[in-house]
Amino acid sequence: MKRTSHIQELRKMIAEEKKRGRKINFVPTMGFLHRGHLSLIAQAQQKDAFLIVSIFVNPLQFGPNEDLSRYPRDLERDVRLLEEAGVDALFHPTVEEMYPNPMVTFVEVGQLDAMLCGATRPGHFRGVTTVVNKLFNIVQPDKAFFGQKDYQQYLIIERMVRDLNLPIQICPVPIVREEDGLAMSSRNIFLTSEQRQKAQILSKSLAAAELSIQTGQRSAREIERQLRERITFESQGIIDYAEVRDAGDLSEVTEIKRPVLLALAVKFGTTRLIDNKVVEVK
Ligand code: PAJ
Repeated sequence: MKRTSHIQELRKMIAEEKKRGRKINFVPTMGFLHRGHLSLIAQAQQKDAFLIVSIFVNPLQFGPNEDLSRYPRDLERDVRLLEEAGVDALFHPTVEEMYPNPMVTFVEVGQLDAMLCGATRPGHFRGVTTVVNKLFNIVQPDKAFFGQKDYQQYLIIERMVRDLNLPIQICPVPIVREEDGLAMSSRNIFLTSEQRQKAQILSKSLAAAELSIQTGQRSAREIERQLRERITFESQGIIDYAEVRDAGDLSEVTEIKRPVLLALAVKFGTTRLIDNKVVEVK
């Protein structure tokens, strides 16, 4: 696997691969890799494509009171996993390489960035779209892969690409879960064993809500009430949001008629977990 922290070196590498007629596939990450990331990588390993993974903990998407400084990092372990997975190149820039000057230019996807996670994490999605845009300009991939674990992030990136005519195909990848249902996340290591146990309620309550919709419940408010009740009753989790939204554009829903997103953000101690499920109505 090739490895570089330098934008110019990466650009040269990519230009050579393109000259040879290879497509460029791209998986952006913040590292501390787990099976969720590896599933994106597996999807991105396609014939004739040169696969680039980036690892960059992007300060721009963390709020002043968020966990930037304690975000888990282990580059050498990540490198081993990427090599085992057969990735072609790793780009792991420093903060100075990505932000040599204080930023005054930003990319903002309006509306979508203000709801759900955007409401509790102001500026978060602006940080994500700005860095992803920079990475897209550096890598110029044909395809980029995003997990549905961060469903809102995936929709926002897709919208950004459409609105700005970026010639990149955005490929969504399903959520990868632990055996007990907990969605894999780099932040799961912060959970105590008791919190880890209680956190099962996220996927369990989503499954129960799906069943409720499949057996005829069409009221979005009632589904939200059921989600909240279950989570509050069975754990000490503090609910940030538990909402039913349109799966296409995250708009508010009253009666469930089209595919909906059941979206959860719940805090266990200082660790905020998110999970979701798309439910189609038959
Ligand atoms: P990070 O949290 O490292 O996630 C990188 C990619 O892996 C994202 O597309 C995310 O949705 C996906 N992912 C994480 N856990 C997953 C799981 N359990 N199942 C499926 N996919 C999963 O998301 C980011 O980094 C950053 O915001 C980034 C896009 C890199 C911009 O800085």
